[in-house]
Amino acid sequence: MTSIDHNLIPDSLDSYWMPFTASRKFREAPRFIVGARGMHYEDSTGHQVLDASAGLWCVNAGHYRERINDAIAAQLSKLDFAHSFNSGHPHAFNFANRLVPHFPAPLNHVFFTNSGSESVDTALKIALSYHQVRGQGSRQRLIGREKAYHGMGFGGLSVGGLVKNRQSFGMLLPGTDHIRHTHDPERNAFSRGLPKHGAELADDLQRLVDLHGAATIAAVIVEPVAGAGGVFLPPEGYLQRLRDICTANGILLIFDEVITAFGRLGAASAAEKFGVVPDIMTTAKGITNATVPMGGVFVSDEIYDTFMSIEDPGVEFSHGYTYSGHPVACAAGLATLEIYEEENLFARADELADTWMDTMLSLQGEPGVIDIRTLPLIGAVELAPRPGAPMQRGTDVAKRCYEGGVWVRNIGDTLVFSPPLIISEEEIAQLFSVVRAAVQATS
Ligand SMILES: Cc1ncc(COP(=O)(O)O)c(C=O)c1O
Repeated sequence: MTSIDHNLIPDSLDSYWMPFTASRKFREAPRFIVGARGMHYEDSTGHQVLDASAGLWCVNAGHYRERINDAIAAQLSKLDFAHSFNSGHPHAFNFANRLVPHFPAPLNHVFFTNSGSESVDTALKIALSYHQVRGQGSRQRLIGREKAYHGMGFGGLSVGGLVKNRQSFGMLLPGTDHIRHTHDPERNAFSRGLPKHGAELADDLQRLVDLHGAATIAAVIVEPVAGAGGVFLPPEGYLQRLRDICTANGILLIFDEVITAFGRLGAASAAEKFGVVPDIMTTAKGITNATVPMGGVFVSDEIYDTFMSIEDPGVEFSHGYTYSGHPVACAAGLATLEIYEEENLFARADELADTWMDTMLSLQGEPGVIDIRTLPLIGAVELAPRPGAPMQRGTDVAKRCYEGGVWVRNIGDTLVFSPPLIISEEEIAQLFSVVRAAVQATS
C-alpha cells in the first residue's frame, strides 16, 4: 500500500475512550490500523491482513474507492454543509430519488440519519407516531427479539436482545417485549443456507398478541438475518409468517437491514432477497461504503401518506438530526450507489454462493467446531467454549488468524464473516484456509 503514514502511533492512550473495547487489555498490546486498499488493511507494523468483516459489516464495495473519495472532496469544495430543517439542498433529494428504486415497493420514501442506531430509533418513533396520527394511540408496545442487535440508542437497546448490552442501563423503555430467538443448533446445525426448521417460532408473536392485545402493539422489529449477535439465519418461511401475523393484527413490521442492505445477501435488501416486504426498513453502513456516517429509514407509501395528510400544515414528524441528509454523506452515498450499480455488486453474493457456502462448510469436523451458519456473503463458525473460560478460544483463534494474514472478528467463541463483496474466489479459499489452520492450532 502506498501513502501510508506509519508514524501515527499516539504518545498516550488515555484520552480516547474506545467503544465496545476492553480498553486495559487493548493497551497491553495495542494494534493500530493505518491503511486500507481493496480487500486489505495494513497495520502500523506494515502487516497486511485480508478484511473478513468489511470493516464492521459496512465496507461492501471494498476499501479506498477513488470515486467515492473524489465525490466527497468535490462536494466539500462546493457546499460543505447545509441543514435540512425547513430548508433544502438538492443533494438529499437527488440521493433519495436514486436510492428508493433499489428497494421494494411500496418503500418509496427515505428519512436520513447518521447511523444504524439513529435509524432504529427513528423507525420506532415513526411507528409510534404513525399509529397516533391514525387515532390508534393505544398502540405503544414495541416488540423485539431475543439475541437481536439494534444499536445502542435507548430505543434500539430496549427492543434488542443481547443481555450484556442491556444489563448495565437500567429499565430501558417501558412497554417493550421480545419474541423468541431462532437459534436452534439441535435441529439446524451446519445448515447450507437457510435452516429448514423453525418457521413456527414466528408464532411466538401471536403469543404476545394474545397476551397484550393487538391494539396495544405498534411494531415488531427484527433483523432479517441477525448479525452482531453471532449471525443467525431466519428459518425457511419464518419471515413470511411474521409478516402475516403483523398484517392480520395491524402491527407494523420493521426490518432492521443495517447489515443486510446494500448487497450483503445478493440483493439490495434482505426484503427483496426473501420476498417479504416490511412496512419500515432501517439501513446505514453500506449506504456510503462506510466513508461518511449515514443511515436511511425507508417507509411505505401508506405510512408517508398518512403523515402527509395530517390537517395541521405544520411539521408532520417532529424528529430529525442536524446532519440528516448531510450533503457530504449524500455525495458519498451517490458515488457508492453508482459503484454498486456499475459493478453489479448487489448480485455478487449470488455469484459466489457455492464457493462461499462449500468452503465454509468444509470446516465441519475441524476440532471444536460445533456449528457453521452460512448464506452468501455472511456466516459464522461457532466453536465450543473452553471449559470455565468462555470466549477465550474464539479470541485466540482470531488472534492466530490475524497473525496468519486475515482479520476475522470473533463474537465470543463465534467467528463471524462478512467480507467486502469484491472478494474473489481465491481470497475466499485463502480466508478459510487461514481460519482452518488457526482452529486446528487452538484447543
Ligand atoms: C442490525 C443493526 N442495527 C443497528 C446497528 C447499529 O448501527 P450503528 O453502530 O451504526 O449505530 C447495527 C450495528 O452493527 C446493526 O447490526
